[in-house]
Amino acid sequence: MKWTVFLAAGLLVATRSQASAQPAPAPLTDEQVKAKVEALLGQMTLEEKVGQLTQIAGGLFPGAKPEEALRKGGAGSVLWLNDTKEFNRLQRVAVEESRLRIPVLYGLDVIHGYRTIFPIPLALAASWDPAVHERAAAVAATEARAAGIHWTFAPMVDIARDARWGRIAEGAGEDPYLGAAMAEAQVRGFQGPYLGAPGRLLACAKHFAAYGAAEGGRDYDPVYVPEGRLRNVYFPPFHAAVEARVGSVMSAYMDLNDVPAAGNRWLLHDVLREDWGFGGFVVSDAMAIGNLVIQNFARDGKDAAYRALSAGLNMDMASNTYPQYLPGLVGEGRISKAQIDEAVRPILAVKFRLGLFEHPYADESRVQAVLSDPGHRQESRLAAQRSMVLLRNENRALPLPKTVSRLAVIGPLADSPEDTEGSWMVFGHVPAAVTVLQGIRAKLPGATVEYAKGPDIRRDIPSMFDGFMPGPKKPPQTPDQAEAAFQKAVETARGADVVVMVLGELAHMSGEAASRASLDLPGRQEELLKAVVALGKSVVLVLVNGRPLSVNWAAEHVGAILEAWQPGTEGGNAVADVLFGDANPGGKLPVTFPRSGAHGPLYYARTLTHQPEGSPMYRSRYWDGPTTPLYPFGYGLSYTTFAFSNLRLAAPQVKVEGSVGVSVDLENTGAVAGDEVVQLYVHQRAGSDSRPMRELKGFRRVSLEPGGKQTVTFYLGPDELRYWSTLQRKWVQEAEAFDVWVGADSTAKLHADLAVVP
Ligand code: NOJ
Repeated sequence: MKWTVFLAAGLLVATRSQASAQPAPAPLTDEQVKAKVEALLGQMTLEEKVGQLTQIAGGLFPGAKPEEALRKGGAGSVLWLNDTKEFNRLQRVAVEESRLRIPVLYGLDVIHGYRTIFPIPLALAASWDPAVHERAAAVAATEARAAGIHWTFAPMVDIARDARWGRIAEGAGEDPYLGAAMAEAQVRGFQGPYLGAPGRLLACAKHFAAYGAAEGGRDYDPVYVPEGRLRNVYFPPFHAAVEARVGSVMSAYMDLNDVPAAGNRWLLHDVLREDWGFGGFVVSDAMAIGNLVIQNFARDGKDAAYRALSAGLNMDMASNTYPQYLPGLVGEGRISKAQIDEAVRPILAVKFRLGLFEHPYADESRVQAVLSDPGHRQESRLAAQRSMVLLRNENRALPLPKTVSRLAVIGPLADSPEDTEGSWMVFGHVPAAVTVLQGIRAKLPGATVEYAKGPDIRRDIPSMFDGFMPGPKKPPQTPDQAEAAFQKAVETARGADVVVMVLGELAHMSGEAASRASLDLPGRQEELLKAVVALGKSVVLVLVNGRPLSVNWAAEHVGAILEAWQPGTEGGNAVADVLFGDANPGGKLPVTFPRSGAHGPLYYARTLTHQPEGSPMYRSRYWDGPTTPLYPFGYGLSYTTFAFSNLRLAAPQVKVEGSVGVSVDLENTGAVAGDEVVQLYVHQRAGSDSRPMRELKGFRRVSLEPGGKQTVTFYLGPDELRYWSTLQRKWVQEAEAFDVWVGADSTAKLHADLAVVP
């Protein structure tokens, strides 16, 4: 079954701000683009061509002088700048003062929102609703484009199976099928129906490829992934992005099987262009071409430029290696003029498609209206509600009654706008999120809501991004101050009827260069949680975080746990909506929650060992504790209950290349309306390779009123039943026996047999 069917609902986001944008010019045909590109290319000098292959820093580094490069046609793109007036000023230099008047392409990391911040991508994946992710990307695009940005370095579509890796926050989690659905949705959201659609951006699928498989979850560490696993697990979201016509791809930093991605021709050319027919351009990650020397791959800068260009890498992000060495390499005949032209073409094509030659400037008079569109905040609130995952709800502790009169809201994440918005803020963005404390106060204006922060939490080793965060830096708390804050928090809880503990991680504890060895709640948070639970109050734990956390103690002792992730601008309102029953949580985990960081990588789609689950040796895989997940992939509760029944196949057999329907009946058996995500898993019992014991091959988020019933049908065909075989070194679909399960998470029990026959 194709996940495209789920996108039908969210094709276009018609916000007020878009409606007032300029009328859309008709998209250029491929022939028109080609003719324009060739005509321009014919007039360009070698230096001007290399200029188009060069991306320079706009504002991040003191002393950056982009205008000089732009004036002489020495830069095709600028990044790390976020100022509409400055965009227009520099564009004027490119368009009015450079010889060929080629407009500059402005790129920036617009990851989960521009002004209106949406939940982090991992959270949006937890919605299991690609339309939600598509709308989030569309709103981000509308705002960023109005501000003058043309290109976002998103979506990040790296599969991440090790929760220690900080960048797990930026992607869709561990599963290739869910990841592919989210990748396609984001490309459509960012780029719109076609590249150059008004109010949209050029998207960039990153980081190609397998960056999420960093050894030990340590950011940037080398990756060793066999080809079969690349093709079956790490590539599908990239392939989906290419199928959705993503205009650009970013190569990863790390070594992939000992060849850095930025110099990996197999990756950037053979797979991306030859196998998949990618027609856009590849940009390196920041400084990555220069880094080829540090990584002990290239001899020197010149060798690095030679090897990156030869690998198929079009644009040098900020390392200045291409402009320094490519002209010389062409002079020596080591790089041909035809290779340079080939690299430049897709970059010029993108500029034509985006309409930059006709409309190079941002309309400064429109920016504020677009950024303050209240519809955007509404979208963000809805997205946050739909992203939350109810992990535990003993004795229906949630939803809380709105009649509660004395509430305490406790914890370091309870009232921090910055951490509510989460990692990857756009440069210069001032956090303005509604915090959980504010959201609860707004929901219960008549109640007494006391707040105590408790002890601060900090990274042991500071983040390299701390310098970009706005506001003064606070000195660390002394142990006495921390103790006083701890006691104050306990006393505040003592005076309340209900305590909402808002614990987790600061924004910069996940994201780039933010890996950690432990997945425990940092600092004294668990100690505080225990002290508050010991008071015998009704306690709800709200997690605000960017990665799975091993909240083992809470999972046994706290009545209710709501995974809110880093929920964005409207996060606090959305948390209050869920806590008090105005929204019913229906999100599901897009990643396994391990019991310990030491268990990473831990994911559901493993191959079976000779001692599978249930066999005598299974329990002793580690003798110091269970290795089962704390919460499995796909897991999440609701305020209502659902019953699955009557799993049936349209036929017990299907021919290779054929397709078979799989249906199940779903009923809301509880008292309130709610959502269930129906999940379909398959397992091939034998074949030329061992296959994972379960693989997600279909899902649908369904809303049902109490007593409501729905039959959900999936189709299993060649796309779902084939895989890339290590033994045969090609895609195969084999006539073998399959297990099929449908249910509410990756442990679904409802089973059917399927035989694939020749
Ligand atoms: C480095 C990050 O790895 C990448 O994701 C980002 O897009 C670039 N820097 C540009 O900021």
